[in-house]
Amino acid sequence: MKSQAAVLWEPGRPWEIEELELDAPKYGEVKVELAASGMCHSDEHVRDGSVPVGLYPFIGGHEGAGVVTEIGPGVTSVEVGDHVALGFIPACGRCRACATGKSSICDLGAHLLGGHQISDGTARHHVRGQGAGIQCLLGTFAPVTVVNEASCVKLTKDIPLDKAALVGCGVTTGWGSSVYAAGVSAGETVVVLGMGGVGCGAVQGAALAGARHVVLVDPSPFKREQAKVFGATHAVASIEEALPLLHDLTWGQLADKVIITVAVADGALIAPAMSLVAKGGTCVHVSVGDVTATDTSLSLFDLTAMRKTLKGAWFGNANIRFDIPHLLRLYMEGQLELDAMITRTYTLDQVNDGYEAMRNAENVRGLILY
Ligand SMILES: NC(=O)c1ccc[n+]([C@@H]2O[C@H](COP(=O)([O-])OP(=O)(O)OC[C@H]3O[C@@H](n4cnc5c(N)ncnc54)[C@H](O)[C@@H]3O)[C@@H](O)[C@H]2O)c1
Ligand SMILES: [Zn+2]
Ligand SMILES: [Zn+2]
Repeated sequence: MKSQAAVLWEPGRPWEIEELELDAPKYGEVKVELAASGMCHSDEHVRDGSVPVGLYPFIGGHEGAGVVTEIGPGVTSVEVGDHVALGFIPACGRCRACATGKSSICDLGAHLLGGHQISDGTARHHVRGQGAGIQCLLGTFAPVTVVNEASCVKLTKDIPLDKAALVGCGVTTGWGSSVYAAGVSAGETVVVLGMGGVGCGAVQGAALAGARHVVLVDPSPFKREQAKVFGATHAVASIEEALPLLHDLTWGQLADKVIITVAVADGALIAPAMSLVAKGGTCVHVSVGDVTATDTSLSLFDLTAMRKTLKGAWFGNANIRFDIPHLLRLYMEGQLELDAMITRTYTLDQVNDGYEAMRNAENVRGLILY
């Protein structure tokens, strides 16, 4: 079938709208007509080249939800007409990670940036006669896609699919970074650095877990104002401003948990972020940037003597088949705010406008509607 897609021809260029020729799903694959795609910063990292991918042209997008319109042979977990959210990391259910409840590091994640289908290493998507890669095995910058069954999470039909798109990456990543990776518990003081889709999930996770103080740090006045809507108790522009505030709020004990969700991972930010962490506290690193970077500022004495923990989190250490329906249930019951996260909506051909707004910190989340 023919459709359209927002394609990257090489790093550094903008997304370009091209005609998409889409094959039928093969073994274990599912065709999904998407309702919407969220616009996560990780696609911007692909566009600017800090995260390299395996196959150009490359169709962006990894926050999607829609309706199954065709299934390939061997598919057992979804059928035509089912509503699905797409997890940005597939979960096979059988590898060592999946079998121990850590499906965000499923072995199938090895294929994540290769661009090809997991089943046979070929492409179902074609642009100008060439096989096209798809971001995170999904390629949601197109109204229709073919993905592996391992990426699909079946939903009840009462859930609005545009909101379901958001939990495929950003919201769940942030939420899980607070609730699972940091293990925020009632009465704690939490700092979240960065208020995009991911930070918004982290703020909400911390607030719902019962944090006493949720301090949002973001240089953007718009984001600081938005943070209050999602449960932040305080919002400041910098770590330098956060430090005296934390001293006052906690009688000098500082933050039990610090979650880093800034736009671009930066090793120079680690030592300042760790300076906000209380004795025995934890800092969770979520941001992505130049994948080749290895330099990090860190006081090893502070880490050791203050018994601090610094850890990474991938998809908030969540499990797609539990957490996607779980968070959407919280949304349906009014405990998780997704509507207000969508600052603006776009058509597919406005995708570069959406990323311009992201670079200017004007959107909590931009959403492409199909
Ligand atoms: N680990 C994972 O599983 C995972 C999943 C999704 C996204 N990510 C990464 O998380 C990061 C956030 O993604 P997003 O889509 O929310 O991005 P976004 O661009 O929508 O939001 C980032 C926010 O960080 C703010 N910011 C920039 N520098 C800052 C600083 N020094 N201090 C405080 N705030 C700062 C910006 O103003 C912006 O509001 C990106 O690097 C993205 O690639 C990681
Ligand atoms: Zn993402
Ligand atoms: Zn697995």
